[in-house]
Order: sequence, then C-alpha cells, then structure tokens
Amino acid sequence: MSDCRTGCGDEARHVTGAPGLAAWLAPHLHFEQLLEKHRIALMQLDLPVAQRALEEFAFALREHIALEEQWILPRYAALEAPPGGALALFTGEHQKLLEFVRRFERALRTLAAEGPAHRKVLPLLDQQATFKNLLEHHDARERNLLYPTLEKQLSAAEQRTLCDALR
Ligand SMILES: [Fe+2]
Ligand SMILES: [Fe+2]
Repeated sequence: MSDCRTGCGDEARHVTGAPGLAAWLAPHLHFEQLLEKHRIALMQLDLPVAQRALEEFAFALREHIALEEQWILPRYAALEAPPGGALALFTGEHQKLLEFVRRFERALRTLAAEGPAHRKVLPLLDQQATFKNLLEHHDARERNLLYPTLEKQLSAAEQRTLCDALR
C-alpha cells in the first residue's frame, strides 16, 4: 500500500509529461531489496551471498547519493525549501548512511576472517535495524519534501532531465 500523500505525481505526469514521484523514488526500492537479501543471507550465515548483496547495495547507494548530490541537491538549493527540508538535513543523512555502510563492510571483513557465527551476526543485524530506520526516514524526507518541491517549482522538462540523471 502506498503512503504517498502528494498524489504521487501521476496526475501531473499525465498532464505535463513530468516524471512523477514513483520515477524519482524508483532507486530506493532497489536498495530495500538488496538490503533485505543481505540481511536474510546474514541470518542464514551464508557469508558469500551476504557479502555480494552488501557490495551491490553499497555500490547502488553510493551511486545514488553521488548523483543526488551532483544533480538534484544543487538545483533544490536554489528553490524555496519547505519546513523540515533544509539542504543540510539531506546531506547530513547521506553522510550518516555512508558511515553505516563503511561499518558494515568492515564487519563483513571481520566475519569472513574469523568465520561467521550467530552470536557475531546478531550485533550487526541490530545495527542494521537502526540503519534501516534511518534509510526509511531519509526516504520519507525525500518522498514528502525534496521531490514534491522539485515537482511544484520546476518545469516538466527540467524535472525529466533531473530524473533521468538519477538512472
Ligand atoms: Fe534518494
Ligand atoms: Fe538521498
């Protein structure tokens, strides 16, 4: 069930050719799937699959953040930000997300070196629960504030150009 409170941009897309909220947020769905794959493999102590899924997740998240910071946020910075939508909140959350990912990569290297065991994996899964909350919080901030602001204040053509830059 969608929790979109902005109409998800579908109406605007049909009328104006703007990409729509679902298009802006498509990369986020991909992260959730990769992170879930990683966590399930961790629970099963399947380290090769857990490592591969984390590598894919980390690559996708780093690329998405880099593209947002290269294309989206500079444009957003020139617009009128809504309450709760200060630029520094987005970049600050990006930094926290990337710090978590580096910590997970170190933890996976340690597990690989020492051998996986449930008592070693549990603290990592706990940290990842905190990380998942942060990721969901960040998704909500972009879903409710960042992308709707671009949709309200930019032309459909400029929205399409920016949205294409995220892929
Ligand atoms: Fe994003
Ligand atoms: Fe972001």
